[in-house]
Amino acid sequence: MCGIVGYIGEQDAKDILIEGLKKLEYRGYDSAGIGLLNDDGVHVFKEKGRISALEAAIDRSVHATVGIGHTRWATHGEPNRENAHPHQSASGRFTLVHNGVIDNYEKLRNEYLAGVQLKSDTDTEVIVQMIEVFVKDGMAVEAAFRKTLSLLHGSYAIAMIDAENPDALFVGKNKSPLLVGVGAGFNVVASDAMAMLKVTDRFIELLDEEVVIVSRDHIRIMTLAGETVERAPFKAELDASDIEKGTYPHYMLKEIDEQPAVIRRLLSAYQDESGHIRLSDDVRQAVLASDRIYIIAAGTSYHAGLVGKQLLENIGKVPTEVHIASEFGYNMPLLSKNPLFIFISQSGETADSRAVLVQVKKLGFRTLTITNVPGSTLSREADHTLLLHAGPEIAVASTKAYTAQIAVLAMLAVEAARAKGIDPNIDLEKELSIAANAMQTLVDQKETMEALAKEYLAATRNCFFIGRAVDYYVALEAALKLKEISYIQAEGFAGGELKHGTIALIEEGTPVVAIATQFHVNGNIRSNVKEVTARGAKACIISMEGLNEEGDRLVLPEVHDALTPLVSVVPLQLFAYYAALHRGNDVDKPRNLAKSVTVE
Ligand code: G6P
Repeated sequence: MCGIVGYIGEQDAKDILIEGLKKLEYRGYDSAGIGLLNDDGVHVFKEKGRISALEAAIDRSVHATVGIGHTRWATHGEPNRENAHPHQSASGRFTLVHNGVIDNYEKLRNEYLAGVQLKSDTDTEVIVQMIEVFVKDGMAVEAAFRKTLSLLHGSYAIAMIDAENPDALFVGKNKSPLLVGVGAGFNVVASDAMAMLKVTDRFIELLDEEVVIVSRDHIRIMTLAGETVERAPFKAELDASDIEKGTYPHYMLKEIDEQPAVIRRLLSAYQDESGHIRLSDDVRQAVLASDRIYIIAAGTSYHAGLVGKQLLENIGKVPTEVHIASEFGYNMPLLSKNPLFIFISQSGETADSRAVLVQVKKLGFRTLTITNVPGSTLSREADHTLLLHAGPEIAVASTKAYTAQIAVLAMLAVEAARAKGIDPNIDLEKELSIAANAMQTLVDQKETMEALAKEYLAATRNCFFIGRAVDYYVALEAALKLKEISYIQAEGFAGGELKHGTIALIEEGTPVVAIATQFHVNGNIRSNVKEVTARGAKACIISMEGLNEEGDRLVLPEVHDALTPLVSVVPLQLFAYYAALHRGNDVDKPRNLAKSVTVE
């Protein structure tokens, strides 16, 4: 969701900015723009739609060594050219890009911009116009920048250029992610290290309410009050090849294929010398000290959380609740005495989850983040972090992060049991290896899922997924995957619940995919399938070896029954992938969606 890049150096900024924006495309956006500064002044190019449209609009003859760029995911004002960033002040002196949402922008506009004619519907324009108003009142640019930022309520990552100063990028952030990349004779700014990995792997993290003046050979960090801050750069642990598609047609397919390797990588990351899974003592202690776990997450991570609850309760014997982040803060349940809050987030940036983190920290509760992104906001701000080691996930639809989250939650469950002196009743090291092999078998059976996607989804407007117990949670995730990328109306249901209303939607030929991996409910889910086929549904049963019956369309290799989601989700990810592909959709960048949702 929204991306920022900036460059100040000796080379032509255009291509570096465009390349950087392309690396941020995965976050989701609906318009893009760049602002370039050279001796002739500032040149702004912006377009609705894809970066290719922006590239076509750029005047290639403009040469500049300073510039900022932006991908916008609309919040205030529709996605059109006028609302795209950069935005400029009335005189055109200041040009600014912004990620985030300014909650008090209307109040600020009324208070400070009475005489200024705004050109867009955005909260962002208010920021750049205010800076100019303060400068016109006699303030130095840096002071006007800091003063404006200190008046903003909400979230922001900002980069600005001043037409009268070709030696500085003005940068600031609060709640939205932003990094400064360190080069030799140049420096860069990016929402995400990935955007600038081609030019540098050294980055400086910015904290909330910090401002940075970035010049070609100097980076000056300060607080909003102007006090200098010293901070050393870190080396991004990312390989440029991790963020390339290689021979794959889509990132999503590559990421589905990477899942067995991710599980193996996680095993080695969390094993001690004797080969036993061992999380840090701090994490162990945090779980031991808690009387109830509250999992907070959104989207796919929420679905992983549901599986996690099952694992933590069945294996670790810790009472666990799972909550949708955007609901929890406004509808908090009665909490236990010693809760542990676990935030599950692929990106580590989801604003809804972060809002809860801030809230529960204020209440003094312990917090743990499970994320794929080291140094992300949720990771930095929680007491503890468990990393997913999945490598960058670029496709908007989450796949390998989901299975990695489940594997880490299983490890946590086993640690919880061991910390309490309870037998976890599972040899997790061995069972995860078996699951990884089973996942490999399934990713190698792509033709089966491609054929099933053709057979069941080619001409349908809707699709139901049903399951019982943990299979129900996988049904929710399967439906979400299909919705996200194929735009087919899909719902996941508990097998027994369909008949209490939704069965009214079943008509001749409605696809119903049933997941049957659980021995204790195998008979029940098969009865549910009979109920829907009797009403015309076209059923597709995906079962587990040992529970399979004649007519099942796919039989999954057998794995421990606590870990079946790792395996059953794989063909369903492929099912969604091929459905989207056959419909000609943009698989990696589905409409309206953002990978990293940094607004509440
Ligand atoms: C967005 C993405 C989803 C993701 C959700 C939560 O909506 O499109 O794929 O599941 O955010 O993201 P997180 O990074 O917190 O896991």
